[in-house]
Amino acid sequence: MATFSAPKGVPDYYPGAGAADSSAFLAVREGLTRPARLAGYGHIELPIFEDTALFARGVGESTDVVSKEMYSFDDRGGRSVTLRPEGTAGVMRAVIEHSLDRGQLPTKLSYSGPFFRYERPQAGRYRQLQQVGVEAIGVDDPALDAEVIAIADAGFRGLGLTGFRLEITSLGDDTCRPQYRELLREFLFSLPLDEATRARAEINPLRVLDDKRPEVRELTADAPLMLDHLSAETAEHFAAVRRHLDALGVPYVINPRMVRGLDYYTKTTFEFVHDGLGAQSGIGGGGRYDGLMAQLGGQALSGIGFGLGVDRTLLALQAEGVTVGDVARCEVFGVALGEAAKDAVVQLVATLRAAGIRADMSYGGRGMKGAMKAADRSGARLALVVGDRDLEAGRVGVKDLSTGSQSEVPAAEVLAAVQAALG
Ligand code: HAM
Repeated sequence: MATFSAPKGVPDYYPGAGAADSSAFLAVREGLTRPARLAGYGHIELPIFEDTALFARGVGESTDVVSKEMYSFDDRGGRSVTLRPEGTAGVMRAVIEHSLDRGQLPTKLSYSGPFFRYERPQAGRYRQLQQVGVEAIGVDDPALDAEVIAIADAGFRGLGLTGFRLEITSLGDDTCRPQYRELLREFLFSLPLDEATRARAEINPLRVLDDKRPEVRELTADAPLMLDHLSAETAEHFAAVRRHLDALGVPYVINPRMVRGLDYYTKTTFEFVHDGLGAQSGIGGGGRYDGLMAQLGGQALSGIGFGLGVDRTLLALQAEGVTVGDVARCEVFGVALGEAAKDAVVQLVATLRAAGIRADMSYGGRGMKGAMKAADRSGARLALVVGDRDLEAGRVGVKDLSTGSQSEVPAAEVLAAVQAALG
């Protein structure tokens, strides 16, 4: 019979060494979340699908994410819903809906989980992607921008990642960006650009600055840059963010041509880029979004946040040869030789688990050889070997699976012996 495959561009993670190792996946998700928890961000768990209009209005109709990549469908009640392509719009919706912005500000929230974009699958670009994100809402303070950036930086470094750089810029705000856009438009339309690029310039002139084609790069080499046209206030904001990052020891480079794929960004904007990943080099990104909440019907409050790619961070760690997570399923593996011994091993394993030790045992009446093989495969450091004769003598064999040495321990002292051996 024909079998099934996961949908195209959708990765599975499962136990076992290798690129799909689920213990490494969990370690990355946890490692990226930890710094946020240390900084007082509370967990928010949000729906996987939302009203389609939320993303259209929040993320922006002209973005690729909304215009080309959304998984949208009508539910059985005829409502158009969309699998969330990103997290910020949903967080804003929940903050407004539950008045989370009515207490002490900033409201600090973190989340993790799957997001969905109908992109062309390739290495590091998935249709179901996993992110860890944070949003800090309600205070427009450059120190908060620096905090958010430093949290992301600490997450990557805490996992042992080193081969990445942080790029930052300021995209201005509505006091200076409209004028700059006009200036850039004029500049772009004075160039001999091809039809498709002109059309892009029409929709969002800033995107043309991010074009990777050498001929376009050359033509736009002297394009006016937002950073040179910031209002005094946004320029001061950006300078303060940089001062804070310097003081925190977070290294960065300024990339005045950075363009993000979502429309809500204002002022500070950033991306973490890893060079070991090929084309899909963005391992995380974010920025300020001062108009988003009002645009979604809430108070006119500012916000800043990031989304870090769990899948890509995992790939980046692998590219650097850094292993994270614990492939071993358990620390201790019970091997019973005989029926009566099996009852004893079941009890022993339960005692170890109750004491917080990860323990498993061989099932299905295998012989000594098969059971020891299972013990090795489990990744355990110790095996407890019990035969019917050991049982009569009231002892258990405690075998160190890395050295092969075995000692006999009175049954009542197994827990203490295991605890001592595991350290
Ligand atoms: P984003 O830059 O679209 O931002 O995505 C954040 C990260 O998710 C990317 O840097 C990348 O690591 C990962 N990612 C995105 N698309 C894919 C994909 N197709 N396959 C694998 N990984 C992917 C956001 O989503 C914003 N909501 C971040 C944010 C929060 N800004 C402010 N607050």
